[in-house]
Amino acid sequence: MQQVKLGMVGAGGIATMHSNNLLRIAEARVTAVCDLDLNRAETLSKLLGASAYIDIEEMLNKENFDGMLFFTPPSCRVENLMKVIRRKIPVFIEKPAADYVDIAEEIADLIDEYEVINAIGYMWRSSSCLTKMKQLIGGRKVGVVHGNTISRVGYGSKYYDKAATGVQIKEQTTHILNVAQSLVGEASTISTVGTMGRLMQADWLKTEDVSSMSVLYKNGAVGSFTNCFLYEGDSIFSLDACGQNFALTFDMGNNRLSGTVDHIRIDYQGPENPYETEMRNFIKAIRASDQSYNACPYREGIHALKMTLLAEVALSSGRAESF
Ligand SMILES: NC(=O)c1ccc[n+]([C@@H]2O[C@H](COP(=O)([O-])OP(=O)(O)OC[C@H]3O[C@@H](n4cnc5c(N)ncnc54)[C@H](O)[C@@H]3O)[C@@H](O)[C@H]2O)c1
Repeated sequence: MQQVKLGMVGAGGIATMHSNNLLRIAEARVTAVCDLDLNRAETLSKLLGASAYIDIEEMLNKENFDGMLFFTPPSCRVENLMKVIRRKIPVFIEKPAADYVDIAEEIADLIDEYEVINAIGYMWRSSSCLTKMKQLIGGRKVGVVHGNTISRVGYGSKYYDKAATGVQIKEQTTHILNVAQSLVGEASTISTVGTMGRLMQADWLKTEDVSSMSVLYKNGAVGSFTNCFLYEGDSIFSLDACGQNFALTFDMGNNRLSGTVDHIRIDYQGPENPYETEMRNFIKAIRASDQSYNACPYREGIHALKMTLLAEVALSSGRAESF
């Protein structure tokens, strides 16, 4: 295969960020961009030297693709995604996996049935810091994981409305939960506390702006995850893991790993941009027809979705909730 030909569905915020990375990847070219908003499709298609579409059916009928990038939110991607999988086109799908677990499982089953190369956009799974962290931990037991999601999206965004399908735990904490899962496996029980309007009162704020989750994992490890979604300063996305004679922090926002292992100081700066690396890996997987290049296959993204949905149930019930 010469240059991998990619299609893009959704030309909003994350699509723009990925497009700038894709321009640096010589092995691939985006040949078509589809968005319901023609202006957005045209803006990115100009940047990428691609054709613009508003109708995915027309795009699929007119062009040939080696891979498709889904940069649409989960609420408006399911039907199109399934169409593309049935055409056996490799798919890169932004997180979260879906709005609901049954839909995510249906998509994962379809991917298996059509044996399609696939990846979900949990970019920190592609960081060399995480690889190094796993190497340093080796066969030791992880006892505790602690994550921070301290951030903000635009005031009034739908992510501050619990009635909308994508509150911040599901949108952002999902990343930290997914990375923790790669260290300690699946969770069994979650409890959550939170306060709505702790940092700011606003009529658009219809979810807890501060919350904290306590998690028991099936293997006996415990986790705590702190969320602060109206933070005005620079975002902090991080995960600490400690266990048998090690304590390490993966500062995801800065792609750094630090801490100690057997009393030896670790301080490592990951050289890569994890978003670019996950995309390069997806392209390698397509070229080699080898799924193993993708650090996080779609199905592995489903557990973080389950956790975020259960965390919301626990927040309402005030009790520890089990899967
Ligand atoms: N990995 C990350 O760090 C990260 C960061 C931001 C967003 N995301 C994820 O990316 C996804 C998109 O987020 P965003 O912030 O770019 O959203 P956005 O609203 O900025 O962009 C979404 C685009 O999809 C288009 N669209 C909607 N339905 C469509 C359809 N049926 N066909 C074609 N286009 C359609 C919209 O017109 C819009 O332009 C979400 O799932 C989000 O969670 C991931």
